[in-house]
Amino acid sequence: MRISEETILAIEEAVQVEEVLSSFVSLQRKGKKYLCPFHSDTHPSFSITSDGKFYKCFSCSAQGSSVSFLMEQQQMSYPQAMKYLAEKYHVPWRVTGEDAAQVAQEKAREALYLLLDKAKVYYQERLRNDPLQTALDYLKRRDLGDPALLEAFGLGYSLPEWRGFHAFAVAEGYDDALLQEAGLVLTKEKVDETVVYDRFRGRLMFPIYNLVGKVIGFGGRILVNEDARTPKYINSPETPVYHKSDVLYGLYQAKQAIKKEDNSYLVEGYTDVLAMHQAGIQNVVASGGTALTKAQIALLHRFTHQVTLLFDGDLAGQEAALRGIDLLLAQGCDVKIVCLPPKEDPDSFRKKEGSQALQTYLKAHVKDFITFKSDLLFAEVGEDPLKQAKATTALLATIGHIPDPLKRTFYVQSCAQRLGLDEALLQTKMEELLTKGPSSGPSFSPRRRMTRRKAASVAKTHPTSHRERTVLYFLLHYADYVLNAEQRLADYLFENFPDIVFSEAIHQILWDQFKTQWYAEGPFRGQDFIASQNEEIQGVAQRIMQRAKALSENWQAMYHIIFSSEEDNLAKSSSVDVQRLQMAYLSDTIRDKMEKMAQATTQEEQEKHWSDYQALKKRQNEIATALGTTVLHHHPLPPYQP
Ligand code: UTP
Ligand code: MN
Repeated sequence: MRISEETILAIEEAVQVEEVLSSFVSLQRKGKKYLCPFHSDTHPSFSITSDGKFYKCFSCSAQGSSVSFLMEQQQMSYPQAMKYLAEKYHVPWRVTGEDAAQVAQEKAREALYLLLDKAKVYYQERLRNDPLQTALDYLKRRDLGDPALLEAFGLGYSLPEWRGFHAFAVAEGYDDALLQEAGLVLTKEKVDETVVYDRFRGRLMFPIYNLVGKVIGFGGRILVNEDARTPKYINSPETPVYHKSDVLYGLYQAKQAIKKEDNSYLVEGYTDVLAMHQAGIQNVVASGGTALTKAQIALLHRFTHQVTLLFDGDLAGQEAALRGIDLLLAQGCDVKIVCLPPKEDPDSFRKKEGSQALQTYLKAHVKDFITFKSDLLFAEVGEDPLKQAKATTALLATIGHIPDPLKRTFYVQSCAQRLGLDEALLQTKMEELLTKGPSSGPSFSPRRRMTRRKAASVAKTHPTSHRERTVLYFLLHYADYVLNAEQRLADYLFENFPDIVFSEAIHQILWDQFKTQWYAEGPFRGQDFIASQNEEIQGVAQRIMQRAKALSENWQAMYHIIFSSEEDNLAKSSSVDVQRLQMAYLSDTIRDKMEKMAQATTQEEQEKHWSDYQALKKRQNEIATALGTTVLHHHPLPPYQP
């Protein structure tokens, strides 16, 4: 997919950076300038260009355009940012190169978003206009009735009736199929008819927003009890726009604060998020009562790597905290924990003790995960040396989840200090855990994960081979994607890398054969290619294609590319990404040449390497220039630094 030139131009024409920023941050005008929203500004140092397109702070040097703001500060992808602006300024959204299925899918999603938004407004009105004030009274009783809070979270109420929303939606022209797809109604087959009725009845409605503020689903808390067996909360089912495991409740409302504080509190419940906001703490999200997922952590990573878990201080709460810790650590988070008093959640604590007390408590009781886990593990160990050893191993196992070796070392150090054990001994033990897995003890379970991580870090020590696989992955996976100027990715790669020398023979064979076949038979993809190859090539190609996910993560790290499924439109529509790859590849080759030069034994050899080196350097400069201009021309991604 490519956004059409006319759409891009119309958006560029229409946007006003002041309006765009104001939707997310508060811009206070002081004469000609503004107070900078990106740092605590005392005298105004933030200004906007006279055409209204760019901003710059002369104090903290924050600067950019509307698009760069949305991408960098709001973590939107380029297409998301453009889409957002197109909607904001009513610019017709036109794309090219999109296939019919994609268009249809996009349309279907749009229809769901519109419907869900309608539903949100409907429930909000029921909440405001309910003569019994059921929901409002309830919220007031819980000290969560602040109108600004209700507005920020779009809270609503579904009346205790079977067909309230359904009747409304049908009158608005929605058909049952769409209502059902959105998860707003349920159906029941009767003898001679199908009965359609509201999913949410007599419930306080919590809209669930995605990152750009669209409603994607609802959670509903029971207020009017029609049946003692109905669950306290019901949530939207999985729909094309709502995937429970990919959502963090409250992130949309919290993201700015999370970025600013560089920390996010993680709580369990919807009401806890509200209570924290009410207590003046805005950097908070909820996992929705389920175990945290990798996708949720990845979402959080766009804004911070520091997470503070808030848990009920009883045993169940602590166990939940323990489960969360290892996953968060493994995903590269810095983890802290606050245990609330037993049987309390942030909401009940605030209700009892007040906002100020909650804030104070959070500050006073925050523990790093080592302290938390060792307190827990050693609480009942006593003087039993066997138990002590077991607890120590369990603690080390948790630390072992941290991918960064330097951080790991520091944590082992802190662990040794805490337990009064010899640090060198613990470091050795850690090495042992990471390489061999534990020699004994059921307390250490993630053995297989460790070995796999070890394998991954070994792979990383051969960057060239890894990069080769990346190039091949790109070729196999995206060969027929049309880049700029109607050029397919494979054409682009073959034309621009005519002389790639792969270090691994099998990679070379793959590349050469793909090239031969591509020019002989025209556009096809890795799958077609694999089908026509011998078993060895098939095997390697298959493995490369299967590495899609792992690679795309590495890509993100290596080339600053946002490459998740939603955003790969960007990669497809832009050759920038490929040029970055080429850059990275050239840096490797150049480094390699330099080594060869240093090792050359004859004058002749040295001169040969020198001329190769110069040719490579020239090529690298060309691409750097191209990248520079392309990047500026396209969209302001951070400049590539080799
Ligand atoms: P809690 O039972 O702690 O609810 O469940 P809560 O948010 O504190 O609500 P109040 O204070 O009783 O009003 C924590 C979270 O688990 C999910 C919800 O996301 C809830 O916010 N949950 C709980 C469900 O999805 N279904 C349930 O039946 C219960
Ligand atoms: Mn609660």
